[in-house]
Amino acid sequence: MTSADTSQSTTLQYVHWFRNSAPYINAHRNKTFVIMFDGEAVLDDNFQHIIHDIALLHSLGIRLILVYGARPQINQNLAQNQITTPFYQQRRVTTRESLSCVMSAVGSIRLQIEALLSMGLANSPMYGARIDTVSGNFVTAKPYGIRDGIDFQLTGEVRAIDTDAIQRHLDNHNIVVLGPTGYSTTGEVFNLLAEEVATKTAIRLKADKLIFLGKQHGLIDRNGQLKREVTPQQLNDYIPLQDAPERGLQLKAAQEASMNGVHRVHLISYAYDGALLEELFTRDGSGTLVTDAHYEEVRMADIQDVGGLISLLRPLEEEGILVYRSRERLENEINQFAVIERDGMILACAALYPIPTTGDELRSAEIACVAVHPSYRQSNRGSQILHYLEEKAKSMQIQQLFILTTRTAHWFLEQGFEPASVDDLPDARQAFYNYQRNSIVCKKSL
Ligand SMILES: CC(C)(COP(=O)(O)OP(=O)(O)OC[C@H]1O[C@@H](n2cnc3c(N)ncnc32)[C@H](O)[C@@H]1OP(=O)(O)O)[C@@H](O)C(=O)NCCC(=O)NCCS
Repeated sequence: MTSADTSQSTTLQYVHWFRNSAPYINAHRNKTFVIMFDGEAVLDDNFQHIIHDIALLHSLGIRLILVYGARPQINQNLAQNQITTPFYQQRRVTTRESLSCVMSAVGSIRLQIEALLSMGLANSPMYGARIDTVSGNFVTAKPYGIRDGIDFQLTGEVRAIDTDAIQRHLDNHNIVVLGPTGYSTTGEVFNLLAEEVATKTAIRLKADKLIFLGKQHGLIDRNGQLKREVTPQQLNDYIPLQDAPERGLQLKAAQEASMNGVHRVHLISYAYDGALLEELFTRDGSGTLVTDAHYEEVRMADIQDVGGLISLLRPLEEEGILVYRSRERLENEINQFAVIERDGMILACAALYPIPTTGDELRSAEIACVAVHPSYRQSNRGSQILHYLEEKAKSMQIQQLFILTTRTAHWFLEQGFEPASVDDLPDARQAFYNYQRNSIVCKKSL
């Protein structure tokens, strides 16, 4: 291979990657993401890259709230000042004496993040991007109180989040930065769990995503395999297995967020360069997604879905499994399509075409273009979208459905269709039957 060939293949890879990312870029624009990283992440060599990737997300129109933790930095300050603070229930007892160490650690990380985002991002892919960050008294805290006889003193929990103020700053294209501290109505500073700040903020803002950057790449199952997706309930199997307390806290926070309306919670690694971009802009991602599977929506398509439909259908058309449909045809027929959508991505589609019938023919329709993305098959999505269109057909008083297929007849038979012949089709559809394609006809009475 010559160097010109290599460079052309690299360019093609890049073009391919960029095309595949485009639907995600559109899907994420104007969405609200809360990103949490702990104090360990800030100390990692990869932290600069994370901040550059965050700047890139900001420039793509994503509304961002960053939440940081500061445990190792607080520990270091305490050690330097020879102060010890006990831990109970994975929470530090914040004594008055230790508070200045907490405040200086939290303050200096904030300055570090702001400095990294303000340096004009020289020597980075985001050179020249202008980014404004805002932090403030957005989190109201209350004392964690006395539990099991232990007075947690200046350790607090989240009482309220000023979502209106945060939204205003996001509207003004600022990145909002929150640390693990909050203020009480009596003017005291409380030390909080960053995981709790992130979770409560995501829930109250109704964020589209909450992303935890932890040490590991998501969750690893018993066979040592990365779990791509889990439900919040499945996290119960992993929480007791965590040896690092921070990890357990993170998983519990992910579970709470997921069960309280944050549909997509991501667990990815801060140590892996590009993890954030891979997770957000590729189909497989880089870590684990915690999601309530029911979040997928089956609905009728609209014009915005044409791009997603084309990405789903083209490979099947190229294989000859489906008949080619031009963009123009899809645009014209879009109201006939149902789709299963998740996070702005079209995972499955099917179309219902009423067939014109004469007086003595039963009211009929054809189901066509049933397709499920190869990565999402064998999870009943095919049956689900078919069932959805059957219900729609019934509501239109349609009495029988037809499908014409070259390779998928058995699947339709399993869905309650029965073999039929071209002669069974209403005359209007028979006239367009393509004898060269020689499709098998199946029908179902409703
Ligand atoms: C057919 C298709 C829509 C099924 O989607 P799906 O979401 O995987 O469907 P379900 O989960 O409801 O059903 C999966 C079952 O159907 C079976 N199946 C899939 N394709 C099949 C085929 N061509 N013939 C027979 N059975 C098939 C699977 O093996 C699986 O069975 P199993 O659970 O016993 O292993 C999907 O495979 C697809 O998009 N195929 C390519 C496009 C196509 O052929 N469309 C029909 C032309 S109109």
